[in-house]
Amino acid sequence: MNLTLVDVMTGMLSGADLEQSRKTIGELRGVFADEPARQRMPQDRVVYRVQAHMPVEAKKPGGLFFGTSTVEPGTVGGEYFMTRGHFHSRRETGEYYWCIKGEGLLLLMGEDRKTVSLNMTPGVLAYIPGFTAHRLVNTGAEPLVVGACWPADAGHDYATIDREGFSVRVMCVNGKPELVEA
Ligand code: NI
Repeated sequence: MNLTLVDVMTGMLSGADLEQSRKTIGELRGVFADEPARQRMPQDRVVYRVQAHMPVEAKKPGGLFFGTSTVEPGTVGGEYFMTRGHFHSRRETGEYYWCIKGEGLLLLMGEDRKTVSLNMTPGVLAYIPGFTAHRLVNTGAEPLVVGACWPADAGHDYATIDREGFSVRVMCVNGKPELVEA
C-alpha cells in the first residue's frame, strides 16, 4: 500500500491518492457581493486550495475522504476571501472540520437558511451536522488552514449555494469582521 502523509503542523498532505484543486478570483464569478470589484482584481489570484486524500471511489458507501483547505487572506469589495460553500448531495451526511492555522469563521446554514458562525482558531474541532451548508471565511492576515473528514458518498451540491447563496456575508468593517444579512 502506498503511504500518504499529513504534516500535522501545516495540514499539508503528501504521497499517494491525492487530488489537488484551487479556485482563483476569475473562477469565483457571482460568489462575492461586489462583482465589479472581483472583475477588477487579478483573475489568476488564488483564493483557496484544497488537497484531498481519496482512497476509494467517490460515492462508495462506507468510505471516508480526508482533506485540507487553505483559504488565502484577502477581500473582494470588503468581503473576506471564502470558499464557495456547499450542502452535501446526500443531505444527511455530516463532516468534521478542524482548524490547523490562521483565524476565520465557519458559516453553517440550515435548509431553513438560518446561519450560525463558529470561530475557527487552531485546535477548534467543528462537527458539521447533516442538512447544513458549510463555508470557510478567512478573517485573518495569514492563510486559514482547515482539515476535514467526510463520507465518500456525501457528494457536493454547489449549485444550491450558487443559486441562493448564504443568508449572511462576512464583511471587513474598520478592519474587523462583521456579519451582514445577504
Ligand atoms: Ni462538505
